[in-house]
Amino acid sequence: MANETQRAHVLQIANTRFATKQFDPTRHIPAQDWQTILEVGRLAPSSFGYEPWRFVLLKDPQLKEAIKPFAWGALNSLAGADKILLILARTDVTYDAPYIQHLVEDVKHKVYSPTSPQSQHFKVFQERDLALKDAHDRFEWACRQAYIAMANMMFAATELGIDSCPIEGFNYARMNQFLADHQIIDPVHWQIAVMVSFGYRAQPIKPKVRQPLGDLYEEV
Ligand SMILES: Cc1cc2nc3c(=O)[nH]c(=O)nc-3n(C[C@H](O)[C@H](O)[C@H](O)COP(=O)(O)O)c2cc1C
Repeated sequence: MANETQRAHVLQIANTRFATKQFDPTRHIPAQDWQTILEVGRLAPSSFGYEPWRFVLLKDPQLKEAIKPFAWGALNSLAGADKILLILARTDVTYDAPYIQHLVEDVKHKVYSPTSPQSQHFKVFQERDLALKDAHDRFEWACRQAYIAMANMMFAATELGIDSCPIEGFNYARMNQFLADHQIIDPVHWQIAVMVSFGYRAQPIKPKVRQPLGDLYEEV
């Protein structure tokens, strides 16, 4: 069993992770810390281990400026966070997709065939159990996984003394169009899931306001 110090530390991190509205624009995340956060994202769990995501750092000041008119929820972050990360999710994860063949052969170093039991099991899982009908459904499913990567990155950042803010406050259609226009995504294969900023807060942490555990946890 974990000891009291470990439990207190975990809760301390959960209470310190704070959707930061005001960042200190003069502070920058050290390269090694940033690599660690990205590594945590890379190591995040995904369905069947198919990693349906990509992380894109929005660095170019002109690109940052250009998204302001349709990214209201990112304005605070754009004003001072050191990193604005776009988390993209795939629309095209299917048992017979070239991407899956690549992942199985080149990453997992296993034999791939669309008719293998593993591929056919995945097909049934997606089409019957998850009832994914089209690219939009597959994207929404990939998004759910992308959010896990984001959450893990935010938790890790807090551990490193780095603040963050998850960002859904933008027009998704305009953002996807913008990313396609700038050749950042091929919209047939990718859409944006969510954004997340990282940096250092220039405001005190607000104490957490949450429902009591008894209102959201039960045992059956
Ligand atoms: C999926 C998601 C999207 C969010 N989008 C935004 C956003 O666009 N802009 C923003 O300032 N905060 C955003 N937030 C932050 C929430 O407002 C914040 O997490 C919530 O109020 C609880 O505060 P806390 O995270 O500091 O505990 C988002 C949070 C989540 C989980």
